Formats: sequence, C-alpha cells, structure tokens
Amino acid sequence: MQYSVVDATDRGHARSDDRSIAGAGIGLRHCHLEQVLRERPPVPWLELLADNHLAAGGLEHAGLEAISVRYPLTLHCVGMNLAGCDPLDHKYLRQIIQLRERTGAAWVSDHLCFTAHNRRHYHELLPFPYTEEALRHVSERVLAVQDLLQAPLVVENVSAYLRFADSSLSEAEFLAALTHATDCELLLDLNNLYVNHVNHGDDVDAYLAALPLARVREVHLAGHAVKPGYLLDAHNDRVSPPVWALFRRLVQALPEVPVLIEWDNDIPALPVLLAEAERARTERATALAARTSAAGVAADGRTQTAESVSPC
Ligand SMILES: [Fe+2]
Repeated sequence: MQYSVVDATDRGHARSDDRSIAGAGIGLRHCHLEQVLRERPPVPWLELLADNHLAAGGLEHAGLEAISVRYPLTLHCVGMNLAGCDPLDHKYLRQIIQLRERTGAAWVSDHLCFTAHNRRHYHELLPFPYTEEALRHVSERVLAVQDLLQAPLVVENVSAYLRFADSSLSEAEFLAALTHATDCELLLDLNNLYVNHVNHGDDVDAYLAALPLARVREVHLAGHAVKPGYLLDAHNDRVSPPVWALFRRLVQALPEVPVLIEWDNDIPALPVLLAEAERARTERATALAARTSAAGVAADGRTQTAESVSPC
C-alpha cells in the first residue's frame, strides 16, 4: 500500500535508544512520590505523566529532581493534540522539552488522538477517522513536534468507543504509515488493543501483523472495567488475564521490550503497583522460557507448537 505522505528519511533524529529503560516499570503517581523517594523500591524505571509536572518550582519540583537522580524516567503526555486542527501549542511543547531536560527522561510519548478543538481542551483522548488526509495532517504535526524535541516522538494507540465510517485505514495501518512517514516510534498499549478488540471486534492477529513491531519502544499494561455490553478503559484495576496473555504473546516477538504498569483511577497502595510490575517480569520470563523450550523440542525433530495464546 502506498501512502502519499512526507518522507522523514532526511530528518536525521537519532532513534530512541536509552538502554536504561528496560524491564517492567510503573507509572509514578503523585500520591506515591514521597514514598518512592523514602523507600526507593527496586523498580527499574518510572514513567511520569508530564502534564501533571509542568509547573515550575515548589516541593514537587525538588521531588522530581530527586526521583530523576535515582530512577531512569520517561515522559508520557496527553496534551500535544496530535490529530487536532488547532495550531500546535508551542508553549506547552516548550514546557515538555524543559521537563525532559530537567529529568533526563529517555523519551517522550503522546497519543494518537485529538484532545482540543477551537482552543477548548476536552481532557479526553478523542478518536478521529483514519484517512489519507488525516495521515498527512498527523504526520506533519508529528514531524513538527520531533523537530522541536530533536528526538523521535513515541506515539500510543488509544481505546475508542466509536468507529468512523470514513476511515479507509485500520488503526494499525495508520500507525504503520505514520512511522514510515515520520520515523516516529510506537507505544503499544495492550489493554487499549484488547478493549477495542472486545468493543469493536478488532482482529488482534491482523493488528499485530500490520504493526511495525520493530518500532515498538514501549508497552503499556493496564486494567479495564467490565460494563454491560462493553469494556471501559478505566485504568482502575489490575491487568486482566486476556491482556497478560497478549503480553506473553508479544514478548515472544519482542523479548526485551520495556513494559509499564499504568494505573490512573482508584490508585492502590504502592506495593500493589510494584506487584503488578513483578508479575510482568515473571510473565515475560515464562513466555520466553516456553519459547526456548519449544525451539529445543522442535530442534529434536518432534512436533511442537509455541504458545499460541488467544487474547479473548
Ligand atoms: Fe497507555
């Protein structure tokens, strides 16, 4: 499939390659900041919700400085409005860049969505039609953001509760074309993928086959709420069994991909988050051991199938 979009091959941004981000991290929430500083739990990395830390000064500023000394960090944003039609907010982007400089964050991510229109911020990750026109529009905005960041942007798939009849591309095809056009990288949220699978019947196999997995820089795992007739991407619970199954399946293709536990509502005590991160570590180890064992059996000439996990 050919896409008539700008080519990013001459942009020259170095690929995100911070080896300090590895293993299973957690999203650092404000209520845990002091405890993390005090107890220094052995979590390999933390992700900051950048939009919550843009104000200069204060105790929190000092706390973030201390966190950034002790832990490798990434920045996760919700305000770039990548698919929006308002001009890019350069004041906001400068604040993100300054926060990245202050914290030494390895990379910056945001979502494939729009969040504002006519200067009104909706505080929601809103979907848009996946068309060639939208692809050109989002590509130009991602390229502009990357020029300011002087680094690849990491773009995340979102959960959505409607689909557009005007879409001519699947979400995975759109993301694949976006990476081709801009050299951006991907944050694959497996809970979002699963929620869309249940709510819209998205084919997970087709999705993963269409996605350029080599561009996946990070994986998110989160919980969802089961509602009558649909799933709500509530980020308010432990990771569900089908999403763990998807994770085991993904790490067979991406054995070292960094993974993060996201929990945004009904935030539990810190040990619960750390236990979820530890489970991610053991789920990865289990999946890779199964892969190795399957390869060994296959090498013996006997019939063996590697773990084939249905996401549902
Ligand atoms: Fe996410």
